[in-house]
Amino acid sequence: MKKIRAGVIGVGFIGVAHIEAMRRLGNIDVVAIADPVDGVGKAERLGVPKGYLNYKEMLDKEALDFVHICTPNFTHCEIALYAMDRNVNIICEKPMCVSVEEADRMIAKAKEKGLVNGVNYHNRWYPMTAQLKEMIKAGDLGTIHAIYGEFSQDWLLYDTDYNWRIESAESGRTRAVSDIGTHWMDLVENVTGLKIVEVFADFKILHKTRKKPVSAVETFVSSNTKIEYKEIPVDTEDHANVLMHFSNGAIGSAVFSQIIPGRKAKLAINIAGMKESVTWCCDTCNEMWLGRRGENSQIFEKDPGLLNEKVRVNSGYPGGHGEGFPDAIKNNFRAMYADMGKPGKNPDYATFETGRHELVLCDRILESSRKHEWVKVA
Ligand SMILES: NC(=O)c1ccc[n+]([C@@H]2O[C@H](COP(=O)([O-])OP(=O)(O)OC[C@H]3O[C@@H](n4cnc5c(N)ncnc54)[C@H](O)[C@@H]3O)[C@@H](O)[C@H]2O)c1
Repeated sequence: MKKIRAGVIGVGFIGVAHIEAMRRLGNIDVVAIADPVDGVGKAERLGVPKGYLNYKEMLDKEALDFVHICTPNFTHCEIALYAMDRNVNIICEKPMCVSVEEADRMIAKAKEKGLVNGVNYHNRWYPMTAQLKEMIKAGDLGTIHAIYGEFSQDWLLYDTDYNWRIESAESGRTRAVSDIGTHWMDLVENVTGLKIVEVFADFKILHKTRKKPVSAVETFVSSNTKIEYKEIPVDTEDHANVLMHFSNGAIGSAVFSQIIPGRKAKLAINIAGMKESVTWCCDTCNEMWLGRRGENSQIFEKDPGLLNEKVRVNSGYPGGHGEGFPDAIKNNFRAMYADMGKPGKNPDYATFETGRHELVLCDRILESSRKHEWVKVA
């Protein structure tokens, strides 16, 4: 079998997850990675044949079919354009870039070149979320009238918590909303087939300044080394409460927060229809709660034999064998790679058009938080 040649740009937290998922697919050869921080050492440790410090050098030399962009948000557009000019298909991390203008340039280039353009909104690719989409399509829930939930984390609770995401120049004009809220919004829009058409948002910046380590603490700190910080201003939200109206008139609300103690990465959706309501949460991702008014509620546990035939491919293991975050990412990539040479117009995975839509939602939510009024999305 001729394997597809792929590379990864940016090998931090998610870059490593991409490499693992690509390898599990079987038909992908991870031939190179690029990262200015120890790109060569990382390649050696991950068993990747070639490591580069500079992504341009990798793209110029490696004749890649696909590249995965796993760098901080503000670099995505520049990297994607450079790669697409060399006819390389793109799988880009979310948020796709930092402005709608950048998204438009990326969409135009992908169209001109006829390339696969995927964005890693992977939550729609869990076995149970894919199943939920089929159940809603089949009318099992009836008319949907309310959607609510959260994406909550605690890793930015203290003012000593620092990451590049804190700096809007690197992350974009919103943070909790674009970093995690877009996962929630993509998931509910995808499984329900509805669109968010109007938003009302209230933001909180818990720490107006944060302490940024003056050096790379992970690498150099030792138990008796005092960490040196400098105070930096914070202009993006730690916590967002967002009210929504959906295209069918359903009412919605969500909390997107990076400052809730004990919540590591809890994405939960609740969808209420006239026949049935459903709750799915990534903490218990192999099951879904089904509630009905005149009957006992049920827990639907993942079992490939019980899944809709169309989405069974997303469950690689028998019932009782948990599948989670790495599996959802693998499922997403499988669909994207299958489109090589013939990118679908409206595929099941998130495309650059989806990524652009999410950026529009972020802009409208930010606008609403500033104006303290409902803002239309279109
Ligand atoms: N889909 C998901 O669930 C998910 C989860 C985490 C992160 N992400 C997204 O992935 C991206 C990366 O996030 P992360 O958490 O892995 O960050 P990270 O800081 O852990 O890793 C980023 C890596 O990119 C490297 N890098 C920076 N500039 C570069 C450049 N110009 N060329 C090559 N490499 C460069 C850094 O050295 C670092 O190794 C972000 O867009 C983030 O929103 C998505």
